[in-house]
Amino acid sequence: VRALAVRAEISYVMVKPDGVQRGLVGDIISRFERKGFKLVGLKLYQTPKDVAEEHYKELSSKPFYGKLVEYIVSGPVVAMVWEGAGVVASARKIIGATNPLAAEPGTIRGDFAIEVGRNIVHGSDSVENGERETALWFPEGVQSWDQTMTPWLKE
Ligand code: PPS
Repeated sequence: VRALAVRAEISYVMVKPDGVQRGLVGDIISRFERKGFKLVGLKLYQTPKDVAEEHYKELSSKPFYGKLVEYIVSGPVVAMVWEGAGVVASARKIIGATNPLAAEPGTIRGDFAIEVGRNIVHGSDSVENGERETALWFPEGVQSWDQTMTPWLKE
């Protein structure tokens, strides 16, 4: 008997307005592609304020919440969903520490950013939030497709 298919793990990853304005979209996408994760959602998106507020609602009591929401809606973001085993934790490693000055060289924030309030990219911090954020940013749903052209990518 075939086991019930378990849905693959997904992470919501977003190039924030500063990353888009600085022309870092291609570099950031490339890092996730080269790692071997599968792109299942992608759009350039002018975020409505209520979506930004909902996305960061767990931080609504923080002093920087208002500025954070203002920053996210200040220009288009690139909203993405990446799929693969362990993608949530791995994406956080690829992105690097929240404070870019503490982020290791070789990570996105370690390579490109200085300030926490302009840290270029977001990645879901838990598998549960990967699902929640994907539903919020992609209410239209994401794609499912087979990486059949790359037979050596996965066992
Ligand atoms: S905290 O302070 O522990 O809640 O921070 P953390 O969980 O690491 O980060 C949550 C998100 O808040 C952003 N952040 C900030 N934005 C602006 N200014 C300041 N000072 C600041 N501190 C944290 C941080 O980048 C996280 O956003 P995402 O988009 O998830 O990376």
